[in-house]
Amino acid sequence: MKASDTKATLSFSNGGQNVELPIYKGTLGPDVIDIRKLYAQTGMFTYDPGFMSTASCQSTITYIDGDKGELLYRGYPIEQLATNCDFLETCYLLLNGELPNASEKEKFSNLVTKHTMVNEQMQFFLRGFRRDAHPMAIMTGLVGALSAFYHDSTDINNPEHREIAAIRLIAKMPTLVAMAYKYTIGQPYMYPKNELSYAGNFLHMMFGVPCEDYKVSPVLERALDRIFILHADHEQNASTSTVRLCGSSGTNPFAAIAAGVACLWGPAHGGANEAALNMLYDIQKEGGVEKIGEFIKKVKDKNSNVKLMGFGHRVYKNYDPRAKLMQETCNEVLTELGLEKDPLFALAKQLEKIALEDEYFVSRKLYPNVDFYSGIVQRAIGIPVNLFTGIFALARTVGWIAQLNEMIGDPEYKIGRPRQLFTGSVARDVKPLAQR
Ligand code: CMC
Repeated sequence: MKASDTKATLSFSNGGQNVELPIYKGTLGPDVIDIRKLYAQTGMFTYDPGFMSTASCQSTITYIDGDKGELLYRGYPIEQLATNCDFLETCYLLLNGELPNASEKEKFSNLVTKHTMVNEQMQFFLRGFRRDAHPMAIMTGLVGALSAFYHDSTDINNPEHREIAAIRLIAKMPTLVAMAYKYTIGQPYMYPKNELSYAGNFLHMMFGVPCEDYKVSPVLERALDRIFILHADHEQNASTSTVRLCGSSGTNPFAAIAAGVACLWGPAHGGANEAALNMLYDIQKEGGVEKIGEFIKKVKDKNSNVKLMGFGHRVYKNYDPRAKLMQETCNEVLTELGLEKDPLFALAKQLEKIALEDEYFVSRKLYPNVDFYSGIVQRAIGIPVNLFTGIFALARTVGWIAQLNEMIGDPEYKIGRPRQLFTGSVARDVKPLAQR
């Protein structure tokens, strides 16, 4: 963090003393005003619900330029990573800061592969859930439960524990997501197959059955790998900030990641891919392309509470670069499966076109985000709608861990403890029950 020559001065209209605040420069993006001493100097807090103007940490991992529609992992544009690297190389990059060379890649892939099985006891834990439980409810429980199964990697302050927890989480998430799926459909769990790629193994565990050989389609394998790369990290979003805040208390890494899974579930965050596909289904049911105008009208009506899911983003005020790559993958997958004329894809493209020409969306800079097309790809692969957010959680796990590890290694890190503007009752006395 580099101090700027410029300083900010805070003045008060009631003649209170001015306060000088340091400014720091990053390598990219807006400078930040350091307000850490503000309370000590003025007795006042800042007020910023939703963190609209607050940098909660310094980070070297991911950078988003929302106006340009740019996303960089450790400086590399997402478009280059998505076309030249696979997911495990991306994991290595996020965790270590550099892309691996051939031998580093082999060593890392072997390490992850060696940890893909989960403790056999996990099956019995899973059996406690209802068969119709939402996969994200199951995932929140399973990830949290890992801390009970892997006692040798629960000390967040021990770098070796953190490293092995990271590898275990990256390796076991596909196994757990596939187990959650198999459980809900009543099929036997498939053990991981270590000769397959990370994405190929996931497809095998999801769609294979013990009585038949499962052949991984290279196009679907590549598509899934791309979905994983595009979702791997996204700087200080709600779930990542949750993981950091949860981890800041010193809790174990599995518990911190479980908190991230829980946060991701919400429809304003990771749950948007499920909500976007359900929205397309609803429009299709009501008449398809013909009904887009009516639907857009509802979206624009503030009293309707209807949103165009898969559109809009707190940071991107331009096309989300991940949405472009996802649309490309969507074309590839649908062509491979002979579904070029998929009515849902046609509906999505038409909906996007109409929204992008509409003044409501133009003036608010609302563009498609990653979730607009990812549901169509996942549905074509055969992934059920309620598992979409589980796939997102699987992919985001590496980002959560990289950010958690970065926080623990930061000498400036403290337990996260926001303050508040209290607007409730002033102190008062409790009356005896008979007088209330
Ligand atoms: N449909 C209709 N109007 C919208 C939408 C939308 N999808 N998104 C934002 N707006 C409107 C909003 O009503 C507000 O209008 P006004 O200024 O008239 O009050 C304006 O645009 C600004 O929106 P905001 O709610 O202040 O923006 P935010 O930064 O708080 O919210 C968001 C960002 C992603 C929660 C929101 O755009 C949204 O709910 N989108 C739909 C859900 C979605 O697709 N989420 C996935 C995000 S990307 C993946 C991820 O990070 O998990």
